Amino acid sequence: MKHWVLMAGIALAVWAGAQGLSGIPAAYAGFAKWEKVVGQNLPTSGPHAGQGKAVYANPAAAKDWKSGKALPVGSIVVKTAGPAGAPTLIATMEKRRAGWYYEEYFPEGGRYVLKFGGPSGQQLCVGCHTGAQARDFLFTRP
Ligand code: HEC
Repeated sequence: MKHWVLMAGIALAVWAGAQGLSGIPAAYAGFAKWEKVVGQNLPTSGPHAGQGKAVYANPAAAKDWKSGKALPVGSIVVKTAGPAGAPTLIATMEKRRAGWYYEEYFPEGGRYVLKFGGPSGQQLCVGCHTGAQARDFLFTRP
């Protein structure tokens, strides 16, 4: 019986992984395989409220995360709340030639929906993240 429960749990986890993060752009969806640069001590309230938050950096971003330098174009930083396979929030920052590009997704009806940021919503995110300008707009960077 116990085995059944375990197997069902594994099957569900695999299924959740295979389901992927429907609605999340492919460039961001692989975050769980990237380096987890922040894994604890993030506030559960305030902006991006949620339990169990983590910040992931793609290889380009991870390489220079602790360097103090501005991260290179192509860097992607993803913050999640909740379990990595099925987060309750996914916030993304992508370093483009023009600067950081911001998006924030929430699960809705079995997929992820862009709720803040995006093509017409950058100002909301930039307005606050400018407070971390000295760390290339990244609050959690050392
Ligand atoms: C009111 C301030 C505020 C706003 C608005 C805001 N953020 Fe943040 N953001 C923070 C803070 C503070 C952190 C540090 C981690 C935490 O508290 O969760 C953070 C962390 C992040 C991170 C992890 C990298 C880092 O900076 O440490 C990402 C990615 C992110 N935010 C994306 C976004 C996006 C996308 C938007 C707009 C949709 C946005 N943020 C709007 C305050 C804000």
